[in-house]
Amino acid sequence: MTWDLAELREEGLRSLYPGIPRIGVGTSTCGRAAGAGDVYQALVEAGQDRVQVKEVGCAGYCQVEPVVTVHVPGRARVVFHTVCPSMAPAMVSWALGSSGPLDPVAEMESDGLAPGAERRLGRGWGLSPLRDLDFYRGQNRLVMRNCGIIDPSSLPEYVAVGGFASLVMALGRPPEEILEEITASGLRGRGGAGFPTGYKWQATRSVPSEDRYVICNADEGDPGAYMDRGLLESDPFAVLEGLIIAAYVVGAHTTIIYVRAEYPLAVARLESAIESARMAGLTGPSILGTGFGVDIILVKGAGAYVCGEETALIASVEGRPGEPRPRPPFPAQKGLWGRPTVINNVETLANVPAVLAMGKDRFRSFGTEASPGTKVFSLVGDVRNAGLVEVEMGTPLEALMAMGGVDASSVKAVQTGGPSGGVIPGSMLDLPVDYEALARAGSIMGSGGLVVMGHTACMVDVARYFLGFAAQEACGKCTPCREGMARMRGVLDRLVEGSGRPGDLETLEEWALAVKDASLCGLGQNTPNPVLTTLRHFAGEYEAHLEGHCLAGVCRALIRYHIDTARCLACGVCQDECAAGAVLGEEERLIDPDRCIRCGSCKEVCPAEAISIGNGHR
Ligand SMILES: Cc1cc2nc3c(=O)[nH]c(=O)nc-3n(C[C@H](O)[C@H](O)[C@H](O)COP(=O)(O)O)c2cc1C
Ligand code: SF4
Ligand code: SF4
Repeated sequence: MTWDLAELREEGLRSLYPGIPRIGVGTSTCGRAAGAGDVYQALVEAGQDRVQVKEVGCAGYCQVEPVVTVHVPGRARVVFHTVCPSMAPAMVSWALGSSGPLDPVAEMESDGLAPGAERRLGRGWGLSPLRDLDFYRGQNRLVMRNCGIIDPSSLPEYVAVGGFASLVMALGRPPEEILEEITASGLRGRGGAGFPTGYKWQATRSVPSEDRYVICNADEGDPGAYMDRGLLESDPFAVLEGLIIAAYVVGAHTTIIYVRAEYPLAVARLESAIESARMAGLTGPSILGTGFGVDIILVKGAGAYVCGEETALIASVEGRPGEPRPRPPFPAQKGLWGRPTVINNVETLANVPAVLAMGKDRFRSFGTEASPGTKVFSLVGDVRNAGLVEVEMGTPLEALMAMGGVDASSVKAVQTGGPSGGVIPGSMLDLPVDYEALARAGSIMGSGGLVVMGHTACMVDVARYFLGFAAQEACGKCTPCREGMARMRGVLDRLVEGSGRPGDLETLEEWALAVKDASLCGLGQNTPNPVLTTLRHFAGEYEAHLEGHCLAGVCRALIRYHIDTARCLACGVCQDECAAGAVLGEEERLIDPDRCIRCGSCKEVCPAEAISIGNGHR
């Protein structure tokens, strides 16, 4: 069955603008974790048929979930955050025009419609626009344009906001023209390496073959990164549209989405979107009657980090152990089942319809000359506003910190690019975030994880954590990565345990450079980065560890808890709390360092803040 896109659009507009108030509840994983499911149910019960209640995706501001948007016909859409089920009746009354005790936080100016499409929002409410909130100030949403606005399970709503218009346009032109547009736009892969997407498509197209494949890499596994999950849960059709356009350009008739099974909501929303697209004739033997056919197959990965590497991913899809292999041949030459294969990241593909809709010149007006467009980052760690932010490439790190609600002086370091990335010190927050600038600083863009660390973080411990993650996730196939990481881990273990030896720092650097140089795949080649960047920017902390001090007061073997007797109220709370029986004394309390297990429980409960961490276990 092929549906008419114009009819779908009308249906979508009726759904988005039902003539009664529309209440959208963000029910992505972040919203659900904060109780959005109960909020949704409460609103359905309170609203009956007087308002329309819809599940929508995540608008990025995960810190303040559950987030609810209310659109009263003829007025601007407004946002409420940290909503709880008990607020549902008041919210429905508010939407129906009765005054109520609720205060929306901001107005959403954009209705998410594509350029040229109809806009039906009306005047505002006199609230601040969303972009005036710290979190949204300076953001530019090309990829996340529909997130938090449309129902991710509704094909008509996606079509109503301009969805699939780029595909229809593409199918009406020769593939070469679309390839030229994507190449000229300068779009680069958002999965880590920043390889130009147009060149990758061209390389795959130009290899003579009966079959070609396009794979969407949705195996996102960096600790602290969830940009792709956010997109898949909030706007899955945008990814499908980009995938089908890629298939058309390279001449592939089978496409695969490789998604980690640990993302059950993303999997469910993808399955639903793939089925809707199939029913609408947007996939299948002849898309919209054009004669070009393509199928989309969903493959669930078991959650191994190394399977995000493209050759390991191909091995996994083929049913073999997920181990990387040497390149060349590159997947573009010899990929899935030995055929030319494009592998693109979720965000790269979600960019494709936007690039075609706005045209290469407009796309290039965002970002920098070498890195056009925007990038979605997951901003986590020591921030007040955690969430997904989308900014132009080249935005300085300090602007991202402001979105996170953190003062630059409170930032000790920012880890970019996950375990393969590096640590940028707080003194370098003017660094523009693009592929080249981050590489010059010894880090990488990676897929977009940004972990912010305050002054209580120990950089040696941070390097040890990321190295430990990578060592656990490495496949063990090649010796430099397997053995080198074990040696590096050994040195870092010694340092945090206070048994570092002279020469350890030199040995650590030598091993890091050797692993980087000699490993087979990107995992081994990049995971020394956290060690090398912390050695470069925080050498003093390493030297202090060698002398038995952890300056940040984190590494247990190197710290002592002290009671300041001048402040102590002798209340005994710490004594009751201490599981190790390490707090001694009646009138004057002190902590026995030999009994103390350095759990910090006493410090947490002390009402007088009389307990502090001191250095020097040895
Ligand atoms: C260890 C490792 C893990 C990776 N994980 C991912 C991932 O989860 N998602 C992703 O898109 N790319 C990942 N990559 C990069 C892919 O190999 C590949 O470069 C990317 O999917 C290409 O898509 P793009 O050109 O659109 O960026 C990983 C690379 C390595 C070395
Ligand atoms: S570098 Fe590490 S993860 Fe990559 S193939 Fe070698 S052992 Fe496996
Ligand atoms: S909890 Fe604090 S104030 Fe109370 S005895 Fe312990 S150190 Fe003193």
